Amino acid sequence: MPTKRVYLETMGCQMNVLDSELVIGQLCALGYKPTDDYHTADLVLINTCSVRHRAEEKAYSRLTAIARAKTERPNMIIGVIGCMVERDHEGIRQRCPYVDLLCGPGNLNEIPALLATVEETRVQAIALEHDHSRRLPSAERTLLYNSIEELDMSRRTPPDGRTLQAYVRVQRGCDKFCSFCVVPFTRGPERNRPPANIVIEARRLVDMGAKEITLLGQTINSYAYTDSSTGRTVRLADLLEQVHEIEGLQRLRFVTSYPGDFTDDILQAMRDLPKVCEYLHLPAQSGSNAVLKRMRRRYTAEQYTELIARARETVPGISLAGDFIVGFCGETDAEHAETLALIERVGYKNIYMFKYSPRPATVADRSLPDDVPEAVKKRRHLDLVEYQKRSGLAHHQGFIGRTVEILVEGFSKAAIKAQEAEQERNNHVSWKRGDQLVGRTRTDEIVVFTGPKSMIGQLVTVWITAATALTLHGEADQTSAPATVVD
Ligand code: SAH
Ligand code: F3S
Repeated sequence: MPTKRVYLETMGCQMNVLDSELVIGQLCALGYKPTDDYHTADLVLINTCSVRHRAEEKAYSRLTAIARAKTERPNMIIGVIGCMVERDHEGIRQRCPYVDLLCGPGNLNEIPALLATVEETRVQAIALEHDHSRRLPSAERTLLYNSIEELDMSRRTPPDGRTLQAYVRVQRGCDKFCSFCVVPFTRGPERNRPPANIVIEARRLVDMGAKEITLLGQTINSYAYTDSSTGRTVRLADLLEQVHEIEGLQRLRFVTSYPGDFTDDILQAMRDLPKVCEYLHLPAQSGSNAVLKRMRRRYTAEQYTELIARARETVPGISLAGDFIVGFCGETDAEHAETLALIERVGYKNIYMFKYSPRPATVADRSLPDDVPEAVKKRRHLDLVEYQKRSGLAHHQGFIGRTVEILVEGFSKAAIKAQEAEQERNNHVSWKRGDQLVGRTRTDEIVVFTGPKSMIGQLVTVWITAATALTLHGEADQTSAPATVVD
């Protein structure tokens, strides 16, 4: 039988990127080969995001295009997986009746079984965690959770062999129910993975060649796991320490933190554990206490800035990133100005800004009017974009003349493009890739630099010579040995 091909397109957050990697791993074990052209695929999967309306519309437009390809290949199986399925499987089935397989993010371990059903019966197959996981008695909930845990534990080398940087989930779901957010509805209640499993998975990844691990959770600082036999609770700071011990691991990161219950032991762990990078993603969402209250975020702007001050004091050189929503229900010009003031006060390395998008079933959608006109949302969004441009450039210029330690990820995309164009023009057979490499600093700045190919995958020292709002440019220090981290 010829090899079956799978095409998987991922939308949304890092958690989805990880889910997709795990799904591809499962499918490769079934004999599938990944392809990046859906026209030639036997199985096409879209891993969806529900966090904003636009992300869902994008998924629908991709599905329409894929459905056209299916008319040429009637045996093609089309699957929709991820958050949109959990939120609105009825809607997907109505708008896209040709979809064969639907699977929510809490059931991805069931994909092989769903595929078998579709292949045997040609009937639409569906798996959801749905709202019943909240109602299940706790023993059943654990059982459900144990089977999805196997998905994370089934981790193998990704088909493209890219293992340098890896994500490891430490937490599923979220219990915070911010009034604007759909995540608690799509990914279910917060469940923390056993630390022993997280360490096993991380160690396996390091054995496969990972140098950098990013731990993932929606509110990762609330991570806590109590061992039922010893009664001992492992919190995020303890977990960082345990993963930090893995020999061969060079860098450790964790995202996303919730500003509400952020304890000092995490900051101390960041300070004391050399592999933990000085980078904190701490979404504020707004700088106005009235808006924060309507958003049901459980902190004030003052508490947020106090936390930032503690972080700066405890972890020297810490770099900060944040998320902001503009145009949330009832947001006035004065409230928006408070957000701008908070942003200036904090001085982020990077901010991610979003226009409020009402999500069905959330508290805000049910009880607050989406009354900020689109034009105003756009203008406020632009204010934040402007800030980002201005501060990004100033932040990067501060690096000129300094040396930084970077983990070299590969060839710079711009360099690859230029070389490919060159190759096309000259039709060279003996084409050699350029020596423009790209990597990241500990504090997450992107650095493009000149250096030998052998540096890929290494920690090296780079001397920064120029900067733009998005990237740093430099020269590798080829005289020094690659920088090392003391284990
Ligand atoms: N777990 C993260 C965020 C998850 S969603 C946290 O604790 O904040 C990622 C980001 O999308 C959020 O931080 C928020 O800024 C944005 N977002 C979430 N819901 C949104 C909505 N309804 N409209 C616009 N942006 C939204
Ligand atoms: Fe969403 Fe708030 Fe949780 S933004 S993921 S409900 S912390």
